[in-house]
Amino acid sequence: MPLVDMNDMLRHAHGEGYAVGAFDLVSVDFLEAILEAAERTRAPVILSLAESHFEYFDFELMMPAVEAAARRASVPVAIHLDHGASLESAVRGIRLGCNGVMVDASHEPLEENIARTRAVVEMAHGCGVPVEGELGYVPGVEGEDAERHPGEITYTTVDEARRYLEQTGVDFLAVSIGTVHGRMQGAPRLDLDRLAAIDAALGIPLVIHGGTGLSEAQFRALIERGVAKINYYTALADAAGARIRANAADGGRRGYTALVAGIREAIATEVERCIRLWGAAGQADAVLETAAPWQAVDHVILYNAPDLDEAAAHEMMAEGRRVLAAIPGVRSVTTGEAVRENPRYRYAWLIRFASPTVIDTYRDHPDHVAFADGHFRPVARDRVSMDYRAVEA
Ligand code: 13P
Repeated sequence: MPLVDMNDMLRHAHGEGYAVGAFDLVSVDFLEAILEAAERTRAPVILSLAESHFEYFDFELMMPAVEAAARRASVPVAIHLDHGASLESAVRGIRLGCNGVMVDASHEPLEENIARTRAVVEMAHGCGVPVEGELGYVPGVEGEDAERHPGEITYTTVDEARRYLEQTGVDFLAVSIGTVHGRMQGAPRLDLDRLAAIDAALGIPLVIHGGTGLSEAQFRALIERGVAKINYYTALADAAGARIRANAADGGRRGYTALVAGIREAIATEVERCIRLWGAAGQADAVLETAAPWQAVDHVILYNAPDLDEAAAHEMMAEGRRVLAAIPGVRSVTTGEAVRENPRYRYAWLIRFASPTVIDTYRDHPDHVAFADGHFRPVARDRVSMDYRAVEA
C-alpha cells in the first residue's frame, strides 16, 4: 500500500537534500516505465498528470490504472495533478485519486494568482491534500521546442514569494529562476542566488518546472538550494520518439506493437538516470518509515425508510448521489438496497472519502447538511453509520 502523503514525502527530500522526480505520464507505457525505474532504484516517485496533456488521454480512464499501479508498487508513490487551471480542476483531480494538486495561475496578476491559489488551498487542505502553487512565469510547452513558445520568463521575487506563501498557505512553491518547459537550444541560464534567497526566506520544498535540458551540475545546484521536486517530461517523450523512429527505420511494414516495442525501456532508462542524479535512489525505505500512508475512508450507512415507497426512496438516493458526489474530497457515492430480505436494514449508502480529513469537512459541508437535514434524516430515523479504513496488513 505504498501511496503516501506527498507533503511527508517532499519534506523528507527537502530535509535530506535530494529531489523527487515528478514525471508526467501520457500513456500506460509511461506509467509502467516510471514505476519500473523507481523500483529498480528504490526511490520515492511522483506520478504526475498534466492538465495540458488531457487531450492525449482520458484522465478519468487513466486514473484507475495509475492508482492500481501505485498501490502495487513497493516504493513510496504520490499522484499529482500538474498545472491544474482552476478550483474545479483540483476538485476533479482529488475525486479521481490525486493526493497532491498544483494550481497554476502564474500567468495572472499577483492578486488574482493569490486569490485563485488560496481558494484551492482551502478546499484541498479540507481533503488532506497538499498544494503546489507557482509564482513567476516559466514559459514554453512540455514536449515541444521551447523556441516555438517564446514567452518572456517572469522571475520569482523573494518579497512576492514571502507574501504569496503567507496569503495562500501553499505547501510547495514552483519558482521561475530561468528554466523553460520543453526542448531548448543550449542550456538555460539559472539565477541561483535568487533561488537561494527564496529558499532561505520560505523554508518549504521548492519545485522546478522544465527539467529537460538542464546539466548535471545545474541539477545539483538546484537541489542544494531547496529544490525537492523536479518536473520532467520532454526528455521522456523524446526517448520514446527516438525508439519509435528507430523501429520505423528498421525496414518492412510495421504495425503498432512493433513500432512501440522497447519504448518502456527507453523511458525507464532516462527516468533512472534522473533519479540517480537527483539523489533519490535508495531513499524509498526511509520515506516509507516517515511518511503517513495515503488511505481512503469509507463512510457507510445502513438504514430503513419506512414512510417512503420504493420510488420515493430511489428518488431520494438519486438526489443524494447528485449532491453528495460534488462535495470536495468525496470520491464516489454508492446507494444500494438489500439483495435478500434483511431483517434489520433495507438500504445502504457507501461514500468514499479521499482521506480521514474529509470526515469532518464532509459532515460540515453546507450541501451535506442541507441534504441530510432536509431529505435523509427525517425519513431514515432508524440508521447506523460508521467511517472505516481498509485493514490490509
Ligand atoms: P519539461 O517537459 O521541460 O521536462 O518540463 C516538464 C514540466 O515542467 C511539467 O510540469
